[in-house]
Amino acid sequence: MHSTNDALIAHAERLLKSERQQFLQRHPTSVRLAEEARKHFLYGVPMHWMNDWGTPTPLFVREAQGAHFTCADGIDYTDFCLGDTGAMFGHSPEPVARALQAQARRGFTTMLPGVNTPDVGAALADQFGLPYWQLATTATDANRFVLRWARAVTGRTKLLVFDGCYHGTVDDTLVDCVFEDGKTVSQTVSRASLLGQTVDLGLNTVAVDFNDLAAVERELATGEIACLLTEPALTNCGMVPALPGFIAHLRELTARYGTLLILDETHTISSGRGGWARNAGVEPDFIVFGKPIAGGLPAAAYGFGAALAKRMQAAKDAAPPGHSGIGTTLSGNMLTLAALHATLTEVATPAAYEHMLTLAATLEQGLTALLERHALPWCITRIGARLELQFCPTAPVNAREARAAQQDELEHAIHLYLLNRGVLLTPFHNMMLVCPETRPADIDTLLTVLDDCLTTLTAN
Ligand SMILES: Cc1ncc(COP(=O)(O)O)c(C=O)c1O
Repeated sequence: MHSTNDALIAHAERLLKSERQQFLQRHPTSVRLAEEARKHFLYGVPMHWMNDWGTPTPLFVREAQGAHFTCADGIDYTDFCLGDTGAMFGHSPEPVARALQAQARRGFTTMLPGVNTPDVGAALADQFGLPYWQLATTATDANRFVLRWARAVTGRTKLLVFDGCYHGTVDDTLVDCVFEDGKTVSQTVSRASLLGQTVDLGLNTVAVDFNDLAAVERELATGEIACLLTEPALTNCGMVPALPGFIAHLRELTARYGTLLILDETHTISSGRGGWARNAGVEPDFIVFGKPIAGGLPAAAYGFGAALAKRMQAAKDAAPPGHSGIGTTLSGNMLTLAALHATLTEVATPAAYEHMLTLAATLEQGLTALLERHALPWCITRIGARLELQFCPTAPVNAREARAAQQDELEHAIHLYLLNRGVLLTPFHNMMLVCPETRPADIDTLLTVLDDCLTTLTAN
């Protein structure tokens, strides 16, 4: 038995070599499609990061249904990545497919509100609890628009975020912290990996450690912070859960210092029906939902209360006529409204969440038992239907701890081993999602294959 990650990493390097070979042998069609696609797509993929999955060549998908998809070579996969939450309610949910089919003959986009606009508004308010809503096409855009509103209504310029945050490709949030002595945040700077970044993002954005209330209060007390934007748990640097009461304290502190609290629930919509905030009884000023809310079609929404709605209208009315900087032509189009309504009313139901959360709890127990059996000092963190395996004994409390626990070789080896045996995890970390179509047999498959993988990795 091995108890240290170092010993496993040496095994992982060897395993990766043979798994890469196996992937290429099993996926001749994906290999061919990659070659063909490279003729006209940069890196041979529609988005450059699709090339970063850790497979020797991208895995091309033929079709996806429920909790499964079939690759170009006809192999069936159990999908625990689910489009990194975009397909959290399953691939091609039947009610959404039906709604799209019906709308497809009645027009896609007109730049005018469709007749079901009141119904969609009511469904958003019913599911997420806030009375007022606006739509965007992506969660990135929703966050970007909310930042604009927050600055407009508060008259303040600065944004507070947490180190390790990801809120989509919103420039203001793509910052890193510079740490002194490995501890204190001394400076917020533009993320070094950004392409074509010309503005020093640290000028208007401050980042501090997640779960550090003192640091938050220090920044809020400057009186310059328009809004604090955070997820209820960091989910993009591994998973960093909030310490008990942390988000409720953020609510109190932001209210005290006149800063707006924005909760980005793009991923924590996994918590339960209505999202994390509604279930926890915390009411942010703005709430953002994206990815799965229209069954995986591009759509996002942000909600707010009546008092803030008045302030937003006042800010808009006071501005000169012209571009507000908020809006994209295709947002709120008729096809999206149809998908949104079907998802909220027929797919993201209490019964669907009940199923997802029950099965995710079973998976959590199974994973925890596996780690114990293999004597691995790793942990499982779960937020409703969303689980994360991290290479550290207890869940990290901030992004620095999460980064320290990352082991790229080990992660790649595990992902590729599973993928070669028909199980897909979310790349760039070890995230697993359970959807309404996931079955107990799918959970068994994941646990069996992971068990084999860990046996191989820990073998002497
Ligand atoms: C918390 C969070 N917010 C926003 C986004 C952006 O979503 P999109 O890429 O759909 O714009 C992401 C993407 O991963 C996310 O994780």
